[in-house]
Amino acid sequence: MPPARRFIGARDGRIERGRRSNPGSHRRSHGFSRWKRRNIPRPFRRVRSTAAPARVHGGVAIAAAVLLRSRESGRGDSAIIPASPDSALRAAQAVTIRQLPDTLVNQIAAGEVIERPASVVKELVENALDAGARRIDIDLEEGGVRLIRVRDDGGGIEPDELPLAVSRHATSKIASLDDLEGVATLGFRGEALPSIASVSRFALISRRAGGGHAAMLEVDGGRVGTVVPKAHPPGTTVEVRDLFFNVPARRKFLKAERTELGHIEEWLRQLALARPDVELRVSHNGKPSRRWKGEGDLLSEVRLHEALGEEFARNALRVDHHGPAPAAGAAQGLRLHGWIAQPSYNRASADQQYLYVNGRAVRDRSIAHAVKQAYADVLFHGRQPAYVLFLELDPRRVDVNVHPAKHEVRFRDARLIHDFVYRTLEQALAETRAGAAVGVAAPAQAPMQAVAGAASAAAPAYRWGAPQAPLGLQVAEARAGYAALYGPAAVAAAPQPTPALPANEDPSLPPLGYAIAQLHGIYILAESADGLIVVDMHAAHERIQYEKLKAAHDGEGLRSQPLLVPATLAVSEREAEAAEREADTLAALGFEVTRSGPQSLTLRSVPALLAHGDVEALLRDVLADLREHGESRRVAAARDELLATMACHGAVRANRRLTLPEMNALLREMEATERSGQCNHGRPTWARFSLAEIDRWFLRGR
Ligand SMILES: Nc1ncnc2c1ncn2[C@@H]1O[C@H](COP(=O)(O)OP(=O)(O)O)[C@@H](O)[C@H]1O
Ligand SMILES: [Mg+2]
Repeated sequence: MPPARRFIGARDGRIERGRRSNPGSHRRSHGFSRWKRRNIPRPFRRVRSTAAPARVHGGVAIAAAVLLRSRESGRGDSAIIPASPDSALRAAQAVTIRQLPDTLVNQIAAGEVIERPASVVKELVENALDAGARRIDIDLEEGGVRLIRVRDDGGGIEPDELPLAVSRHATSKIASLDDLEGVATLGFRGEALPSIASVSRFALISRRAGGGHAAMLEVDGGRVGTVVPKAHPPGTTVEVRDLFFNVPARRKFLKAERTELGHIEEWLRQLALARPDVELRVSHNGKPSRRWKGEGDLLSEVRLHEALGEEFARNALRVDHHGPAPAAGAAQGLRLHGWIAQPSYNRASADQQYLYVNGRAVRDRSIAHAVKQAYADVLFHGRQPAYVLFLELDPRRVDVNVHPAKHEVRFRDARLIHDFVYRTLEQALAETRAGAAVGVAAPAQAPMQAVAGAASAAAPAYRWGAPQAPLGLQVAEARAGYAALYGPAAVAAAPQPTPALPANEDPSLPPLGYAIAQLHGIYILAESADGLIVVDMHAAHERIQYEKLKAAHDGEGLRSQPLLVPATLAVSEREAEAAEREADTLAALGFEVTRSGPQSLTLRSVPALLAHGDVEALLRDVLADLREHGESRRVAAARDELLATMACHGAVRANRRLTLPEMNALLREMEATERSGQCNHGRPTWARFSLAEIDRWFLRGR
């Protein structure tokens, strides 16, 4: 048997080491073609060594250095480099450290900041907004690959500052670490323009708003020209031609014109939602393709209609909630405002989820998680909620310098924010009682419903003239609890729209009206003030039962039940630490857990209601949540799931004949129950057909 032979393989600059016995020539070539099949440039494929095992490790690091150098110098295919100690030593002596040329530095930065034409548009438009532009024109050719021209009417740049604008780490937006910690502009890194200019044919033309002359500076693939006079109105134009013309590797990753244009449009939509006060005009290949008119009003709902469509707008609940001013010194409290879609309007993917932190569009896992939790009890399984949410807080409480393209932020008190978002939205969704919300076929005159904060309990979003108390006890209690949590400052001063009731509406009728019949043993038909209400009686009853069960169990608290024999759980050290640290939280959830070793826990009591389920798996999930989000709703969610099943079994079945008084009782309970607009699975429980709509069916003019 031939001796075992070592080899070191390297791909993508990563070095792998392996041992293979019996490397006959057949096997060897097989190994080689395996790398080849993965389409890896040959010089990085493989480094072979027959060195003594003890020396190989050092050889690995040096061989890597050799590889990088051969890649840099463009030496090609012949480079299968022996990593023997001798050659490695020689290679090590040849390594010198040198400063990279500016253009290359900028191109490396461009690798992070400029992924595709949409990233260029983003950076340029953000610069225009930072310069106070009221109107921005964006001309594109071939999906932005051939040309991106962004012209604004903002403050402009002095001619002698043009070279600074395209040099790295030069910015007018911050001057000190202190500024960085409270950034209020969209840009601050001073690297967008030099990065873009290093990978395109670039021109910057500008004139200060206060007067002076306009000038232009061209940069060609990083080579900076000289400033020359040029005619231009006050403001700035940036022209970016032939993106990535000098970076073929990047150019290869660009997609079809349509796709790149789609990315730009999606980004502009995101921006348009946040800045309705700015006019945006887009043209593609010489033709106007989109115009976002400036609205003047930052809370304008026109943009919402334009960006996300009528359907979203019709189903949107307006949210506006101020948190209390934080006690310790910080100047400003939290505010969450925007629109969330009613649960019955939901999506297959997360394509209508817009989140802004201090006006900047970001992705944030923790907030996305908080929103998902708020919807957990009302959304159809596997569906995604839709929302446009603006979180505002003191810039000092959020770090925006986390991601080169500024897509992410880091909160100084992430737990508090998670909790704030969750509670605000959970409360807003609890208000989706049947009759109160917009409904499936909403009247056009009340497209938006305001969801206000705690103390406005006496003024429901919709004006009800019902003799029945519109607010069920649970609702009032939940509000009281909420007020206690956040204090009186939690009172959101959201404007209360009171949609005008149609003239013929009878104020003595309750929102869901009075039952007139049962249809096919499934639906209740009711006559309401403005038409016909159809209720899915099983779905509605199920939700009512469910909310009652939850309220009953909430009142009791989570009882804990001791295990007959304590269970020992093998966990990771990090889980064990989390369990120790969060013992009080776990106790409040009904778990009595102690650490019994570096990697083991002893479980003595579990939540009583869930004692028959897989409590160990539940505990692990809870620990994972506590580590990641600082809180866990798993126990509540597991409990809710159980209660939902019980509610489903307890709810009226199809084909049960109901008497009119029974049906009316159900309608009145719906009006008083939180979340009764959807069943436990997130399906709508009722629909309204207005008389006007029915008249239209029969072409009946009134
Ligand atoms: N459209 C514009 N209007 C006015 N000034 C601009 C514009 N674009 C860029 N600038 C100036 O050029 C500087 C550099 O821009 P950039 O490289 O994007 O860095 P940053 O935006 O992070 O400061 C900005 O700080 C700003 O002073
Ligand atoms: Mg910028």
